[in-house]
Amino acid sequence: MEQTFAMVKPGAVQRELIGEIITRFEKKGIKLVGLKLMQMSEELAKQHYAEHTEKPFFDELVKGITAGPVVAMVLEGENVINIVRTMAGATRPSDALPGTIRGDYVLDTGKNVIHTSDSKESAIREINLFFKKEEIINYSLAT
Ligand code: CMP
Repeated sequence: MEQTFAMVKPGAVQRELIGEIITRFEKKGIKLVGLKLMQMSEELAKQHYAEHTEKPFFDELVKGITAGPVVAMVLEGENVINIVRTMAGATRPSDALPGTIRGDYVLDTGKNVIHTSDSKESAIREINLFFKKEEIINYSLAT
């Protein structure tokens, strides 16, 4: 079964949106198999955003993601990488459709509430960066 990584960003933790965001995934039927509230180090932030090292907003990105706790999660389900990305909505607030997480809660690209893996490769990389094998729980939902 496919797995993806998602992270509620510090600004969204401050806005008390953790429950709202997780509820959306649960209601969709996506299974939560890993979950933690954590403070990212600068080193982890730089590793996580390694592909953006050369971008002009890289320092801002690292500063923002380490500004307070995040909620990291591993989500499981069929086609979950694309589904979670679709549910998160477009990165640019003007492109994020109402009904998506960003469409409903974001006005500023730099404060875009949630991160989600954009491919199989990045899902594997990001899950391994944030979670130890034993922190991902294999269980069945009743339904
Ligand atoms: P995220 O999905 O975490 O992955 C890369 C992040 O870069 C993205 O969300 C945005 O928060 C951020 N980002 C992308 N473009 C810009 C930009 N022009 N200015 C500031 N941040 C940006």
